[in-house]
Amino acid sequence: MKKIVISLSAFLILGLQATDINTNMHTMKEGLESIQDGFLYNSQEAVASGIVQIKKANEIFHDKDSVAKYLPEDKKKLVGVTLLSAKRLSSDLDAMSEYLAQGNMLEAAVLHSDIIKDCTRCHAIVRGW
Ligand code: HEC
Repeated sequence: MKKIVISLSAFLILGLQATDINTNMHTMKEGLESIQDGFLYNSQEAVASGIVQIKKANEIFHDKDSVAKYLPEDKKKLVGVTLLSAKRLSSDLDAMSEYLAQGNMLEAAVLHSDIIKDCTRCHAIVRGW
């Protein structure tokens, strides 16, 4: 009985964690799309709201432990660079926000590709690419 309860709770915890990250990443994807739409359709509001969405979702990666749990065993040693990708994402979003506040859409748009790179740097490690 005890065994069943333990494995059931482990199952629930793992299940919840999986749902969590997917929901969170879905928000990141929506934020990225909003940024892209903003530049394509010339809407500063869409860019600004995309930035906020991604920044909020990125808060789950606040220290090494919060990143390490998503890394496969053989990639755990890369936790530092993985955390760095989240930090760089955050600072690139801040820079984009800053350019937006100055009304400098061109420089803000240049950062779009850096942001996609930041997403990919972490995914590459998490997925063992
Ligand atoms: C610090 C790490 C990290 C960063 C940065 C990151 N992600 Fe992810 N992402 C993950 C993890 C972990 C998963 C789940 C494992 C997987 O899909 O390989 C994931 C999965 C995803 C998925 C698939 C979710 C699903 O339901 O299958 C999408 C979409 C996604 N991320 C979007 C983004 C976008 C957009 C950005 C950048 C704005 C981003 N991510 C930045 C770690 C990160």
